[in-house]
Amino acid sequence: MTVRFPPGFLWGTATAAHQVEGSNLASDFWSLEHTPGTGFKEPSGDACDQWHRYREDVALLAALGFGAYRFSIEWARIEPEEGRFSVAVLDHYRRVLAACHEHGLVPFVTYHHFTSPRWVTADGGMTDERTADRFARFCERATAHLGDLIGVACTINEPNTPILVSHTLGLDGKGLEAFSGDGVAEAARRCGVARERFQPFLFADAARTRDVLLLAHRKGRDAIKAARRRDFPVGVTLSMQDDQAVPGGEARRDRMRDELYGGFLEAAREDDFVGVQTYTRKRWGKDGGLANEDGVPTLVMGYEFWPEALEATIRYAAREARVPIHVTENGIGTDDDAQRIEYVRRALVGVGRCLADGIDVRSYFYWSLLDNFEWLFGYEPRFGLVDVDRKTQLRTPKPSAHWLGKIARANALEA
Ligand code: GCO
Repeated sequence: MTVRFPPGFLWGTATAAHQVEGSNLASDFWSLEHTPGTGFKEPSGDACDQWHRYREDVALLAALGFGAYRFSIEWARIEPEEGRFSVAVLDHYRRVLAACHEHGLVPFVTYHHFTSPRWVTADGGMTDERTADRFARFCERATAHLGDLIGVACTINEPNTPILVSHTLGLDGKGLEAFSGDGVAEAARRCGVARERFQPFLFADAARTRDVLLLAHRKGRDAIKAARRRDFPVGVTLSMQDDQAVPGGEARRDRMRDELYGGFLEAAREDDFVGVQTYTRKRWGKDGGLANEDGVPTLVMGYEFWPEALEATIRYAAREARVPIHVTENGIGTDDDAQRIEYVRRALVGVGRCLADGIDVRSYFYWSLLDNFEWLFGYEPRFGLVDVDRKTQLRTPKPSAHWLGKIARANALEA
């Protein structure tokens, strides 16, 4: 059986600035991860040094057969102090964008991927209303400088993640406080904020981030559209799991869906697309989330190997948001590259079924191009199609990179 994808379907890989560039010195996460006792396995350090090696990465991606690259521009570098925009940094991202065009890659640009400048976090970050206007001003500046080279834009990566993390880790709305150790007060001090107001993105007080993030997305989108001189689609990407109900758990599952995606999928109705980012499933019973099922492999991230989750979330997002879908992240952290191929193959067969049913899916971005910095987990989970030697930064494509690149080139999967 051959699964064919529509003409113009984008095949790419995704990364985020903080996870690959290295030395993101003015960001809140840099302080957080370098403070002992904050739960981080190790700091990001030089990451994959993509700041210097972007040409190599872009050329490699294109040579493998891909046609698009999703990456983020780093607010903490572009505006390291309030109102001080670095033209040199914006010019750097112009060069990254130009390299994408030179190699025939459509650049899919994320304006915010978890990290913020320390001065934003010092004022309460995503729980403080001023952040929405500040983010919009950043979007406006960045778009004025870069917009003519952007292919597709995402305002905020996974604005629903604080809510999801809070549920997954059982933080019960108490954010970082409930989760990390003794280092949090010190990290807050390093970010210049009182501990009670210290709300870094991943661990921010879920209930308080929702409105600010929705507002930041809307204002950011409007600012991007007002500042661009060429038309390109603008949307938001969401972290989604395939929420399944065991018998009796239907009401609970539906409540969780409302809580995790509700306002966000509705907001996406005003956008040009919604980005679906899916890795696994979650089962819900009458009284709450269930543990991983016996017999289903558990991955290094702690969740189940469940490639069919992508199809389910695409269907759900399309139904609720009623706009075109981009698969902006899907992937697996594993040392077993054959398991990666199996995961992606099954996920893509699911995308094929969605397309056959008339759902407007426009892309597939594998997370991630490189083995990179996986936040709290450090460098242990290996999501990359490309291995990175941690000492030499040498890039070596894995068999999965060639396998997926071939599918990208053919725009078809022999299943
Ligand atoms: C997220 C992010 C990425 C992760 C990826 C793998 O969903 O957390 O967008 O930054 O690295 O999802 O866990």
